[in-house]
Order: sequence, then C-alpha cells, then structure tokens
Amino acid sequence: MNFEYTEEQLAVRDAAREFTQTELLPGVIERDTEARFPHEQIKKMGELGFMGMMVDPKYNGGGMDSVSYVLAMEEISKVDASASVCMSVNNSLVCWGLEKFGTEAQKEKYLTKLATGEWIGAFCLSEPEAGSDATSQRTSAELNGDHYVLNGTKNWITNGSTAQVYLVIAQTDLSKGYKGISAFIVEKGQEGFVIGKKEDKLGIRGSDTHSLMFTDVKVPVENRIGEEGFGFNFAMATLNGGRIGIAAQALGIASGAYELALAYSKERKAFGKTISKHQAIQFKLADMATEIEAARNLVLKAAWLKDQGKDYAYASAMAKLYASEVAMKVTVEAIQVHGGYGYVKEYHVERLMRDAKITQIYEGTSEIQKIVISRALIG
Ligand code: CAA
Repeated sequence: MNFEYTEEQLAVRDAAREFTQTELLPGVIERDTEARFPHEQIKKMGELGFMGMMVDPKYNGGGMDSVSYVLAMEEISKVDASASVCMSVNNSLVCWGLEKFGTEAQKEKYLTKLATGEWIGAFCLSEPEAGSDATSQRTSAELNGDHYVLNGTKNWITNGSTAQVYLVIAQTDLSKGYKGISAFIVEKGQEGFVIGKKEDKLGIRGSDTHSLMFTDVKVPVENRIGEEGFGFNFAMATLNGGRIGIAAQALGIASGAYELALAYSKERKAFGKTISKHQAIQFKLADMATEIEAARNLVLKAAWLKDQGKDYAYASAMAKLYASEVAMKVTVEAIQVHGGYGYVKEYHVERLMRDAKITQIYEGTSEIQKIVISRALIG
C-alpha cells in the first residue's frame, strides 16, 4: 500500500495549480456572470497537454495515468469548473472512447486533433426524453448504402457549440431495444446538423451547453464506432471513466471552497479573535476536511483501479456519488463560514456552490450511481 504520489504526478498537479492561478482565476467571475466560454484558456490547456492527458503519445496525447488526470482535474476545478467540464468530457468521454473503441482511421483523423485540444469533442447521449433512462433513445440512424441517415434531437450537450467532433448515440434498430443502439462520429458543419439553443444555467455558466438537432444528416459507415448495436455498451463503458473525471471535478470544487473558507477564517475577526479560533468554525472546517479527504481517497482509488486494468465501474460510481454530495455540502458550509461575504460573487464560494450542483446530475445522477453500486453489490 503506497499513498505517495510519484514525482511525475506531483509535477502534473503543480503545473495545473500554477495554470489556474495565472490563467483561469483572472476573469473567472466575469466569465460566470456573462456565461462566456473560456476559449483562450482551453486553447492554452490544450497546448499544455491537459486536453488529451491519457491518450497514447502516438496519437499526440500525454500518455499519462488516470491518477495524474484526476490530480489535474481537482486543481482546475478548484478555480474554474466550466473549464474543467470541457476538459473532462474531452479527455474521459471523447478521447478515451475513441482510443478504446475507434478504428485506426478514426484515431488518425479525429483523436490526433482532439488529444491536443486543436479540436474539442462532445458526447451526445441525453435526449429530451432520455436522461437517466438512457436506453430510451429516439434519435435514429438508418442505413442507406455507404452511409447512415441521422434524425433526432440531443439535449444538454456539453461543448455543444465549441466542439468540432460529436460522438452521437442513436437507434439503428428499435426492435432490438438497447442492443439496437449504435454510436457515430459526426462533424460540425455537416448538412442538416443544427446547433440549437444555449442553456442559461445555474452553474458552470462558462460551459456551453446546447441542444443539437439532426435532420437527414449523412454519416458515413466508416464513422460508426464499433459494430451496429454496440452503442449503448459503448456509452456505458465510456461513462464509467467519465464518472471518475466528474468525481474529480466535484472533489476540486469542494477543496477549492474549503481552502477559501480556511483562509478567510484566519483573517476575519469576530468577538475579539479570528473566527478560526471559534469552535463553531473549527468543527465546520474539521468536517469539511475529513469529508474531502474521504472523497479524494475514493476518487484516487477509482483512478488507480483504472490504471491497473481492473474493473472500476463500481468504484467510479461510488467516487462520483460521494464526491458530488461532499461538493454540495462543503460549498454550502464554505458560504456559511464566509457569512454575508459568502453570498456575494467577489468571494467565489457562491459560484462554487452553484457549480457543485451539476456534479450530482450529469454523467448519471446520484440516484443512477446508487443503481450502479447496488447492482454490483446484489448482482
Ligand atoms: N458499465 C458497463 N456496462 C453497463 C453499465 C456500466 N456501468 N451499466 C449498464 N451496463 C450495460 C449492461 O451490462 C447491459 O449490457 P449487456 O446486456 O451487454 O451486459 C446494458 O448496459 C443494459 O444495462 P441495464 O439492463 O442495466 O440497463 P438499464 O436501462 O436497466 O439501466 C442505467 C442502465 C445504468 C440506468 C443507464 O441507463 C445509465 O447509466 N443511465 C444514466 C445515463 C447517464 O449517465 N447519462 C449521462 C449523460 S452524458 C453527460 O452527462 C456528459 C456531459 O455532458 C457532462
């Protein structure tokens, strides 16, 4: 048993930490207020290797392990969860999905650009009537010679307008249920592909979340990922890793709020002493630190299992469930420690609380994580 990080993992964490202070912190409040996507920052994240961290270097990736990835995710999420969700979707859903299940030609054409951040990817599973119940896909893909004809609507798509590459899940044979679902690569700008309305959200307001409409979009057969009927398993396998990324995001939001609360408690005076000397605040900080550490251990365990090539579906569901609940709880407490200052934008913690909420919803709600966990327990 070894709880030490390697030198390489620490170097990645420190590089991410430095980047957040110099590039992400300035302007983060304004980007949130104006719901503005961090284009320049994401470009720099690509240049620094944060957009394809685990991809094999032969496809222009960083060749790093999942532990390094979650350390970077935690740091970036402490400051800007809008940037980190873009990073998480690109790394763990799009790049991983293509590297694991794509053909050599798909990897050459798409992964090599996605891994550097030159292109951004989106993962399109959710629909107006298929959120948690993801097998109820209505989007259809009908084979017609050398291409499929794609029709339907996708909802709440992260990187909806910034992406160049969209991994789209669709029904190829309704009669087969989830065994009739397939996955496709769709490029921006294809005829009949319309980027719909941008969502006006509670949190992660800098992230561009859109609906997408497909009307008779021609998708070449060579853009199908895996065999026909593999799409649902593709989505589930990919989400297992995605949930580690979102768990790390939740952990980062929690630890960012905790660090702000700790620093503030050592400055703010009340009743003749800093509030950190009051037991009411000390106990809050102790609870926050303990729960964050427990969440961190779950997240790292899931990442470690993935790195070891062991099954991590159960561990990633647990990590996401727990870390997202901790993120919500800790950010609320961080506001309480700040008192009235916590309720205004300048102090960051109110944004972190708004950002925390989505971690209990996307890539599988807390209730879905409990389904995954209990099915693994009970069989
Ligand atoms: N890992 C691997 N395979 C899984 C799996 C998992 N975690 N969960 C289900 N499967 C497989 C099953 O093994 C089965 O396949 P086989 O028959 O080949 O063995 C198949 O999927 C169907 O499984 P179920 O019968 O269990 O299906 P279900 O309908 O009862 O439940 C579910 C499945 C777990 C509830 C699933 O629908 C689910 O995970 N829903 C949540 C969807 C979700 O996470 N959406 C997130 C959207 S993406 C997003 O948010 C990205 C973003 O932008 C940030």
